[in-house]
Amino acid sequence: MQKEIDEIVNLRQQLHAHNYNYYVLNQPTISDFEFDALLKRLQQLEDKHPQLFDVNSPTQRVGSDLNLSFQQVKHNYPMLSLANTYSQEEVTDFYNRVAATLKMPFQIVCELKFDGVSISLRYENGHLQQALTRGDSTVGDDVTVNVRTIKTLPLVLRGDFPQQFEIRGEVLMPWGVFNRLNQQRIAQAQQPFANPRNAAAGTLKLQNSLEVANRSLDAYLYNILGVEETNLTTHYDNLNAAKTWGFKVSEAVKLCSTVEDIMSFINYWDIERHNLPFATDGIVLKVNSIEQQELLGYTAKFPRWAIAYKFQAEQAITKLLSVDFQVGRTGAVTPVANLEPVQLSGTIVKRATLHNADIIKQLDLHINDYVKVEKGGEIIPKITEVVKEQRTQDCFAVTFPTICPECKHPLVRYEDEATYYCPNQAYCAPQIKGKIEHFVSRKAMNIDSLGSETIALLYQNGLVNNIAHLYQLNVSQLSRLQGLAQKSAQNIVEAIKKSCNVPFERTLFALGIRYVGENVAKILVKHFKDINALMNATEQQLTTIPDIGPNIAKSVVNYFADINNINLINQLIAAGVTFTASTQQQYSQNAILQGQTVVISGVFQHHTREQYKEMIEYYGGKNSSSISSKTSFILAGQNMGPAKLQKAQQLGVKVITETQFLQNIIDDADNKNI
Ligand code: IVH
Repeated sequence: MQKEIDEIVNLRQQLHAHNYNYYVLNQPTISDFEFDALLKRLQQLEDKHPQLFDVNSPTQRVGSDLNLSFQQVKHNYPMLSLANTYSQEEVTDFYNRVAATLKMPFQIVCELKFDGVSISLRYENGHLQQALTRGDSTVGDDVTVNVRTIKTLPLVLRGDFPQQFEIRGEVLMPWGVFNRLNQQRIAQAQQPFANPRNAAAGTLKLQNSLEVANRSLDAYLYNILGVEETNLTTHYDNLNAAKTWGFKVSEAVKLCSTVEDIMSFINYWDIERHNLPFATDGIVLKVNSIEQQELLGYTAKFPRWAIAYKFQAEQAITKLLSVDFQVGRTGAVTPVANLEPVQLSGTIVKRATLHNADIIKQLDLHINDYVKVEKGGEIIPKITEVVKEQRTQDCFAVTFPTICPECKHPLVRYEDEATYYCPNQAYCAPQIKGKIEHFVSRKAMNIDSLGSETIALLYQNGLVNNIAHLYQLNVSQLSRLQGLAQKSAQNIVEAIKKSCNVPFERTLFALGIRYVGENVAKILVKHFKDINALMNATEQQLTTIPDIGPNIAKSVVNYFADINNINLINQLIAAGVTFTASTQQQYSQNAILQGQTVVISGVFQHHTREQYKEMIEYYGGKNSSSISSKTSFILAGQNMGPAKLQKAQQLGVKVITETQFLQNIIDDADNKNI
């Protein structure tokens, strides 16, 4: 036993070191195959000795499938932002201001401004304890479970680190990962992320850390707090020390003494940043000495010892040829500019988003105007300005339509919203087709044999006008359509039939109710169990549910107030589509812990102790507080008391870790019912 325990400790150390070599230094010393073999061995040993479970073990990098709801936690130190400038003169002003206040020699550290999401990490005794987002700067979201999956962040430190400290930095999504993710999203008819920053932010807030792990986020660290007791006296030393503790710190850091040094760093990176694998949007300048930083102090929002110089977004000037008004599945009308093709940061731009009517008005946009287009971090370029000096006689104002460009129904604009909508949901072609496309999409009903072209074909031929019509299609109707072989027709009909069995939460998401995304659908199903209960819910009842705000509540109530929607749902019910919670059905069949008595002990990572108790009862088990020969197993969190452990061993009672419990028992139970 002792031998295996030693092996666990040793393997964990080795694997942490290999992770560091691979992810931080980019210099692996063993092959992936050898690494996987060590990891597999560690996993085996950990499975065998669940009492040695450690959240910071290298085996925990893979993430878990659980639904997290992020807890809000107060920051130990507020997460301030930086004063910004786009002008090099203001950088000089900053330097002069610092000189005038300090009246002594000083140095400035120049570093990259990473364009990601800021994160604050707390380490205790060399172990990652907590990761918080910035939130509102005083309180952040606890995203520790997701952050643990970022392989470039050390879970366990190396070298001579302080026992307690906080370190802040930026979580990034590298361009390569970002582009792949967006391609996937487009292929699955999902909205692509506008830029890597949004993608990183969205990823950190995912409910499923397994998915976070798959997205390969990266992280650079740039600010250490709470190390007053150490002999670290400058920011530059802090960064170097962080490197020795295993953190990824950018090499693009320069200690500058003069304004010229600073400008040459800025100008160098303004060009060179395009060769970096991640997005940067400027340079951050920080006074090097921590003592001098304290002398300079803070304004209400920013430190006086630092400033961010932001790079100009890349711009080009081109001619506005026309504006299209596109109608989406929700009826929202989006203006899109057609431009004379122009080269902009490596790609040819022909279209730009105009967002809404207000923006067109603010820009005072005319057809045939010359306009400035910018790309910045966004993939879809935007028009930022009209070059008024170049406006000629043949320019005429862009007017927003008052009727739907597709179905001619008058458009409406809701209170407090900038968007115009076509309310003619049931008869407006792009809305009908868009709703069907959403309904069949992978995360909704998953009818993957129905692509957008086939949907258009079905619509044109009068076979489907709404989602319920799909369930009336038959093979002979379909195979008569041009371009559809008998086999494809059969596949489509079968896939539609099979979709009747997707769980209620996905059917609800598939309906395309405004603001009811995948997660909201899950929350609603958990509370209402079936469609009738949900249909009868009032706005007030809905808003009492955690995470359901007034907009969602209003949208749900409005949806069910529309008789057309009720008819649609009745037709879907008649066709056999699931509108009852699967978990409810599971309950009776799924008493997987029936007859078992469980003792819970220790501190848990994924759910509270109360939630585990509920789970055990839900699956038919009984909770007990003391270990006896009748105990079926112990669900052990971290720091389970030694007396309990000893008793369990004496009585030969199984000890199961939190991860094992969730993966082996709960997942198993749920899978049986899919
Ligand atoms: S230092 C009190 N250094 O930019 C100073 N911030 O606009 C703390 N950022 O909130 C920030 N790269 O999210 C610092 N090298 C860098 C940075 C950086 C990116 C972000 C950070 C900050 C924001 C301010």
